[in-house]
Amino acid sequence: MAESTNRLANVSRTDRIALGSGADFWTTKAVGAVPSLVLTDGPHGVRRQAGATDHLGLAESLPATCFPPAVGLAQSWDPDLVRRVGRALGAEARALGVDVLLGPGVNIKRDPRGGRSFEYFSEDPTLTGALGAAWVEGVQSVGVGASLKHFAANNCETDRMRSSSDIDPRPLREIYLRAFAHIVRTARPWTVMCSYNRINGVYVAHNRWLLTDVLRGEWGFDGLVVSDWGAVVDRVASVAAGLDLQMPGDGGRGDAQVAAALAAGALVESAVDRAAEAVAALADKATRGRAQGTPAPDEQAHHALAREVAGLCMVLLRNENDLLPLTPGRSLAVIGEFAEAPRYQGGGSSHVNPTALDIPLAEIRALAAPGTVDYARGFTTDDSGDARALREEAVRVAAAAEVAVVFLGLAANQESEGFDRTDIEIPADQLDLLAEVVRVQPNTVAVLVHGGVLRLTPVVELAPAILDAALSGQAGGGAIADVLFGVVNPSGRLAETVPVRLADTPAYLDFPGEHSHVRYGEGLYVGYRWYDVREWEVCFPFGHGLSYTEFAYSDATATADESGLRVTVTVTNTGARAGREIVQVYTSVPDSTVARPPRELRGFRATSELAPGDSEQVTVEVPRADLAYWDTRVDRWVVEDGRYGVHIGASSRDLRAATEVRVTGDEVRVPITARSTLGEALADPKAAAALGELFEGMSASMSGDALGVDMMRMIASIPLERLTGFGVSPDALRAVYDD
Ligand code: BGC
Repeated sequence: MAESTNRLANVSRTDRIALGSGADFWTTKAVGAVPSLVLTDGPHGVRRQAGATDHLGLAESLPATCFPPAVGLAQSWDPDLVRRVGRALGAEARALGVDVLLGPGVNIKRDPRGGRSFEYFSEDPTLTGALGAAWVEGVQSVGVGASLKHFAANNCETDRMRSSSDIDPRPLREIYLRAFAHIVRTARPWTVMCSYNRINGVYVAHNRWLLTDVLRGEWGFDGLVVSDWGAVVDRVASVAAGLDLQMPGDGGRGDAQVAAALAAGALVESAVDRAAEAVAALADKATRGRAQGTPAPDEQAHHALAREVAGLCMVLLRNENDLLPLTPGRSLAVIGEFAEAPRYQGGGSSHVNPTALDIPLAEIRALAAPGTVDYARGFTTDDSGDARALREEAVRVAAAAEVAVVFLGLAANQESEGFDRTDIEIPADQLDLLAEVVRVQPNTVAVLVHGGVLRLTPVVELAPAILDAALSGQAGGGAIADVLFGVVNPSGRLAETVPVRLADTPAYLDFPGEHSHVRYGEGLYVGYRWYDVREWEVCFPFGHGLSYTEFAYSDATATADESGLRVTVTVTNTGARAGREIVQVYTSVPDSTVARPPRELRGFRATSELAPGDSEQVTVEVPRADLAYWDTRVDRWVVEDGRYGVHIGASSRDLRAATEVRVTGDEVRVPITARSTLGEALADPKAAAALGELFEGMSASMSGDALGVDMMRMIASIPLERLTGFGVSPDALRAVYDD
């Protein structure tokens, strides 16, 4: 910061103000010694526009590798893999002259209808935090900055530029801010992007509590806060709240407002300096990054990486009678438009112009024996063609083959940034087609392509094998073929629960809200936390994913010390093929004094590729801070004292081992005031002593049985100040209060 402060020493006030807004759509201004910087989307590929610019994915961009979007990437549950993707993204960004890549998106998937689900990782903050941190570390390791977005509580697209996310403090902290906090603290992103929405009525771009008190004060963020594109409503309020850079540039209008506010004494100069210094400091980082000598990316190597990554992101949801992997000699009917015209990324600002595109049908043909694969389109996604003729052809092809592989899913126009879905259905014509195919061909594999969660019960009822490819990037077609033929043994896991019905989902009644307010009525119970507390069946649970082999868990142990929990378990490959397992660790607090989901993911780890018969001891460390809940009485994180259940398993509903540890809790002393209850005061040694003196002789009768009821339970909820109504003097009570 010292260096950048010097850089600004001779910079005029006008120029310091000017640093706080963009030069145009994607660049900042060059001012004095501070160079102009290039920021661009992100997150799963570089969208560097050379001609017309926009934030909606409309105008063309230069070719770049399209890696699996976050919905797919998250299914890897593998931070090391995500770090490698980050490094590759950073190298491409650098080669395209980009200083800051706008990602990762780490908002929690609160509702499966959320239009941007494809761009976010998970319904769980621990998984999101670990993967988001790895993404940032990877990108920044090659001298390109990340932009952690969309900060914060931007969980739906409907009315996204006005809507207020109305959230209670515990879910806000424990669910919606947790991943952001983890990433800021551990991966130190160069920038954080503030979101469009309001939180509890206040625009994030004006929210001093969030942008300054929490982000910088509590979490120690020392980078730059940039607005989402067009998120600034009132630049003066934003600068005062902690926003450093308004994007895109607005032709100097906001700069003039800041100058006028300074002149009128409505804004302090130090806020403008803070913003200017943040831009200068970012420029310092970018200058060092440009000089870092990042090797030029190799297009083919990145395509190969995209295929490897996509293979590790596929989730095998179902595999009755070991229908998969396919045997290369068997004749195959590949059905569905998506096999020929793949759906592999989402729409909007993250839309990448890929360097190459694997076509699933061609990749399947490449791995199958020559002449064994037939294809039928089966349906169209734009209502073109003769639906009946297409279906009949598909049924004919399926009947003539030994196995059918039917691609099902959502077309690009059915989900995108900018709007939410209203249902989670697979289009009816596709389900009808599947039913007809299965009638003639019981050996049917369904391959799913989609950004948001789908209702899968109808597919489960029909198809004995289901492979979930989600959105898998430009090499997804090759990766699908790899998994179908067992070149890759699937190890992906769901990062989101698949519910039985939309009406079962946690935010069903409160999504997407009304009149620009979204009430987060489900509180802490987001995703599996909700289905578990309600004890409801789900179609596929969070964390679920099968393999072509089997794993056994043994010798689970858990110990606790001041740094947290250390959990170990031995995993053995008991099947006939090599494979890797993702071990998941959940905790519970059976005697908790506060509301708690039955189990919460606290850590996870992939084994290495285990040969049949091989074992590996897996260790998962859970930092003590991750056990804490947000205590609204003292406005801070508190680790509760007591017994903690440790549940180790292959999914949130496939828990293979359980053990228990004792955790010594944090001291929490809630000040005793006039509003404290008698019960609270009696539980506090100092106040209890003072009360004892006040009520000398009364305590015996209070704690005893009167008329068969416990007197103490009856009167414990009386606030101390109300005792004055029962003849206790206010002066006497003052001795009980803390101040
Ligand atoms: C999106 C951001 C994106 C920005 C720039 C906005 O509409 O919300 O995610 O980075 O545009 O394209």
